Amino acid sequence: MSYGRAKNLMRAIVQDRYGPPAEVLRLRDIETPTVGDGEVLVRVRASCVHADVWHEVTGRPWVLRLMGGGFSRPKNPVPGTDVAGVVEAVGKSVTEFKPGDAVFGETHAELEWRNGGAYAEYVSVPEDTLALKPSEVSFEEAAAVPASGFIALLNLRGSARLEAGKSVLVNGAGGGVGSIAVQLGKAHGARVTGVDRGDKLEMIRSLGADHVIDYTQEDFTRRGERYDLILDVASNLSLTACKSSLTSEGVYLVIGHDHFGKAKGRVLGSVPRMLGLLVLSTFVRHLPTSQGEPASTKKAAMALLAELLEAGKLTPVIDRTYPLDEVPDAMLFLESGRACGRIIVVP
Ligand SMILES: NC(=O)c1ccc[n+]([C@@H]2O[C@H](COP(=O)([O-])OP(=O)(O)OC[C@H]3O[C@@H](n4cnc5c(N)ncnc54)[C@H](OP(=O)(O)O)[C@@H]3O)[C@@H](O)[C@H]2O)c1
Repeated sequence: MSYGRAKNLMRAIVQDRYGPPAEVLRLRDIETPTVGDGEVLVRVRASCVHADVWHEVTGRPWVLRLMGGGFSRPKNPVPGTDVAGVVEAVGKSVTEFKPGDAVFGETHAELEWRNGGAYAEYVSVPEDTLALKPSEVSFEEAAAVPASGFIALLNLRGSARLEAGKSVLVNGAGGGVGSIAVQLGKAHGARVTGVDRGDKLEMIRSLGADHVIDYTQEDFTRRGERYDLILDVASNLSLTACKSSLTSEGVYLVIGHDHFGKAKGRVLGSVPRMLGLLVLSTFVRHLPTSQGEPASTKKAAMALLAELLEAGKLTPVIDRTYPLDEVPDAMLFLESGRACGRIIVVP
């Protein structure tokens, strides 16, 4: 007689309610997901811990619960939105992948604020959110890229924001989105300045940034330099503060970082600010009129990210890796802001 786990059970991190990660996340045996039509069942080899997962686990700001996550409790109890792994099974209409393929991607087809199920041994994901993993890239490195890469691409690729010779400043260049934005800028031939805390500057330089600035030592808006694009990933700046640092057609683009609840309100977070900027963009030329091009689908983004990884133009930086049962510790480390590179979870 075997006392092992039943065959259709898998280990997963689950939450029955929103709250601080250490209080609400538990390792449990749950049913392995089935693969739907158009879906791919992936045996997870690595996933990533990032700011959006923090929002989905804590349910903060509250308004995000109305955007698909579940009002009083998470509809999907298993967090995690990035996955790298091996295809276990495919739905009947899937044409691009087969069992045994090494893949990476996101678990959501659209921009969604809800748990994605990746902190588990298996996850079932839409075919269109995956790409084949380049063989020279590890599962851990591949898992570091999808969600932050998609956000960076969505914001940077539209409206020819990254033409060769353009001057781009990335505020928060040492974080998940910023470190990819720096590399996308360089891949497109832009001159890139990265701003972040001093201990991350060496890493930012190693990603190709032409100039780096320690925000604890210097306010770049007082330097007299002008940029074609200021990408405010840290989201602590304002258009008023940045205006004198923009070229006449320069664009100020803010992502909307809440700094794990420290920066904005519990109920609405950065939503009012983002809506305000969208309204203002009709009248102010330095603000983008949309947050990206409609053509930036996840499928297209994943294909491009895979290409850049394969060509060595995108190098994921990993700070540390945690086993599945230590996801709460991984999220505490994320909240501390001390990570220099991505935080990876390995089941
Ligand atoms: N990463 C993803 O996969 C992902 C996906 C979708 C959306 N997003 C959204 O994108 C936003 C950014 O996420 P992220 O993962 O890039 O966050 P992150 O990893 O926390 O990066 C933010 C960076 O900004 C730095 N920073 C803090 N204060 C700063 C200041 N005053 N000036 C300049 N830099 C400063 C932080 O460093 P210190 O704190 O050490 O100073 C950190 O390196 C969030 O709103 C997130 O919800 C992220």
